[in-house]
Amino acid sequence: MPQRFDSINFSEDITADPEYNASLSSDRYTCPDFMKMEWEKIWTKCWIFAGLESDLKETGDFFIYDVGRESIIITRNENNNISAFYNACQHRGNKILTLDLGWVKQVTCPYHGWTYGLDGELKKVPDEDLFSGGVSCKESSLKPVHAESWAGMVFINMSPNPAPLKTFLGEIMNQLDPYHFENMELVKHQSVTLGANWKTVRDNFLEQYHVDFIHPQHASFVDCCDAQNYLWPFGHTHTCVESPVMNPRYPMPDEPPEYMAQYLKGLEINSDDYIGKVPDIRAAIQKQKRKIGKKLGFDYSELTDEQISDVFQYDIFPNLFMTIHAERVWFYGPRPHPSDPNKCIFTKFSLMIPESKIRDKDKGLELLPGSYEYQYSSSRVEHEVFTREDVVEGRNSLTATIDQDIHYLNDMQAGMHSRGFNKAVLSNDEGRLQHFHNWVDNWMSEDSLWSKVSAGK
Ligand code: FES
Ligand SMILES: [Fe+2]
Repeated sequence: MPQRFDSINFSEDITADPEYNASLSSDRYTCPDFMKMEWEKIWTKCWIFAGLESDLKETGDFFIYDVGRESIIITRNENNNISAFYNACQHRGNKILTLDLGWVKQVTCPYHGWTYGLDGELKKVPDEDLFSGGVSCKESSLKPVHAESWAGMVFINMSPNPAPLKTFLGEIMNQLDPYHFENMELVKHQSVTLGANWKTVRDNFLEQYHVDFIHPQHASFVDCCDAQNYLWPFGHTHTCVESPVMNPRYPMPDEPPEYMAQYLKGLEINSDDYIGKVPDIRAAIQKQKRKIGKKLGFDYSELTDEQISDVFQYDIFPNLFMTIHAERVWFYGPRPHPSDPNKCIFTKFSLMIPESKIRDKDKGLELLPGSYEYQYSSSRVEHEVFTREDVVEGRNSLTATIDQDIHYLNDMQAGMHSRGFNKAVLSNDEGRLQHFHNWVDNWMSEDSLWSKVSAGK
């Protein structure tokens, strides 16, 4: 059975269908001119996910988001708000902060000591009287970028006057608020450089057609064939994979398979009670998680039964994927290289509910199998930066599934340069991917929906 697709509009004017039908020719992924257009029309116009609000707990905390040719400083300022500005000193342009994240009292350029406040305002110019023309504080403050936070995530927007984040994400915010990602803790932060266009990476995570082929460990346990997909305005999508279930292409076992048995054990359910009743396990888990959750102090009351058991993936245009379980979320995605369309950086943040609420080691309780793969840390986890070779040769891992994806991405990019390849042919099950590209074309057009919405806000 093919996957199902439904479109959801945000409003009468903000509709899911962009009325473009993009052709996925190879130059879309390889051409420097196309990349330049994307920079102008997408990356500098769109709200983009930049990092976590938990890295901005105290006044003076900052993190840097590098994207394309830009480096953006994001801080917690003295008014307890979030400020963002370009990481370029207004004296002669030096990139001011070079650490990934940290704490500063003020933002001081190391070259000649110009000093800015945490909101980017110019505060001090050493030997100011040497500037006979004077230095205008207003003109020489750091150039601001819009920043907004939601559910523990920080988004930035480089355009001068964008419509708010709420307009960009619409109803998606209401659907995800019950998870309370803002209460989850960062347990892993990883970045890997890839020899692939950012959209080659994007495409990989926008379809499940490949799952049976490159992720054999999922083949019998994931029912991707019947997945329900939703297409949203501005290029966002989401999909739901029921869990835990058997793939209907495989015979239904009599006994619960090992991974379901482990899941049941962690929830104090005897898996022998489900011999001959494997299709009933998903509903049993939904019910039991509410009960065990209470014991551990984790509250499922805002979540639907589906949200408790199933895996939801939300794809926020252009650079954020969220793979969501009730107890864990991954925020991940690509950002373009400064100049090469054949490269990108892929970053993944893994977050989980606090350790005491997800498991009790002594009693053997565990709300989500696999939680022991992650180590909690009282200090901020290290940002691990590595290469695709580190993944392929087993020195680092973004989980077996993503490693398998990464294995193929460089080869996808290489094939697109061949004289023997012209354009992609998509199946019906790749509808989210087509939707994303239709919206890429909408964003790139003169009369993009976002430009209309931002002009009329
Ligand atoms: S370039 Fe920053 S103070 Fe001179
Ligand atoms: Fe995959």
